[in-house]
Amino acid sequence: MHNVRRVLDVGCGPGTDAPQFADMDYLGIDQNERYISHARRRHGRPFEVGDVTRLEVPTDQRFDFILVNSLLHHIDTPSTRGLLAHLPNLLSDGGHVHVIELVLPPRSSLPRLLARADRGEFPRSLQEWHGLFVESFDEIVFEPFDVCVGRIVFWNMVYFKGCAKHRSSPMRENAS
Ligand SMILES: C[S@@+](CC[C@H](N)C(=O)[O-])C[C@H]1O[C@@H](n2cnc3c(N)ncnc32)[C@H](O)[C@@H]1O
Repeated sequence: MHNVRRVLDVGCGPGTDAPQFADMDYLGIDQNERYISHARRRHGRPFEVGDVTRLEVPTDQRFDFILVNSLLHHIDTPSTRGLLAHLPNLLSDGGHVHVIELVLPPRSSLPRLLARADRGEFPRSLQEWHGLFVESFDEIVFEPFDVCVGRIVFWNMVYFKGCAKHRSSPMRENAS
């Protein structure tokens, strides 16, 4: 990962993704104390217990890579909106957010059944995820994908990569 120095893993669980960032400054946050003490023991890196809907990372700390992997389907829509709206404040110039989420397909199917059975109460349709992401970020990638076992599709997922919204400067607007 070119130019990535500082990584924030939001809802990091037991530090599942921490090894992917071995050469970078990394901070993982999760509300589950057992996950966090396991992650600290296992990876020997910084992990904090915290409710990410009240994220208290000082805004003078900026991250090049913010990962939100399989967290948001555990969080209700107002809190998801609030969290996504806050994350751009934590991005460095040129930094990106990367979200991986569980999709609720429209029609009756195994992936729909499994999404409904998930412990997260808020799996959302592709359209809902898209709407939530582009409210707070400029879209770079929005890519649905399936998780299969053999030839059978078990879960529908989506990957989103975004950056802080670019605001056009008033001078440019006046000039046109
Ligand atoms: C499905 S797990 C994903 C964990 C990890 N990102 C991964 O991909 O393996 C969802 C995680 O979100 C955490 N979580 C849910 N709500 C949270 C909140 N409000 N604040 C912090 N963590 C939260 C749970 O404790 C759990 O570890």
